[in-house]
Amino acid sequence: MNTKKKMLLYNVIFLLFCGGLFLFLWRAPEETTARMPYDDTHQKFYTMQKKEADKQCSSCHNPEGVMPLPGQHPPKHRCLFCHKKVAR
Ligand code: HEC
Ligand code: HEC
Repeated sequence: MNTKKKMLLYNVIFLLFCGGLFLFLWRAPEETTARMPYDDTHQKFYTMQKKEADKQCSSCHNPEGVMPLPGQHPPKHRCLFCHKKVAR
């Protein structure tokens, strides 16, 4: 193979790799992350602006609260970005 073809091949492989990584990251949270329950505690957040709601989650979801986050929890600002609402 000449150099030009090799470069093209490397670029294609690189792009495929990036695409795969992107799809992986994009899909992973959507399918496994627990959704925010629709119960008495969380109901009010369904009608609230997401940014407003996010600020109030940690009043209960903190180490001393009713339901602490698991130890391995990812970075946690913007709760509702990952913990989607359940369909009603
Ligand atoms: C008044 C306290 C309180 C507030 C505020 C609160 N939660 Fe919760 N949350 C709970 C309790 C208690 C549970 C466990 C029982 C249940 O499912 O309601 C829980 C459970 C959860 C779960 C786990 C559900 C599961 O299937 O394991 C998620 C996700 C969650 N809350 C997200 C949120 C988000 C996002 C917010 C902010 C918009 C929030 N919570 C605000 C008390 C609260
Ligand atoms: C970057 C994505 C992300 C953000 C932002 C985020 N979480 Fe999580 N959370 C996760 C993942 C992933 C898990 C572990 C897998 C699961 O949901 O069971 C988890 C687990 C939890 C659990 C335990 C669920 C269970 O069933 O054991 C609660 C409660 C929770 N998160 C609440 C919150 C709250 C409250 C916030 C905002 C302060 C928040 N999360 C922000 C991704 C996120």
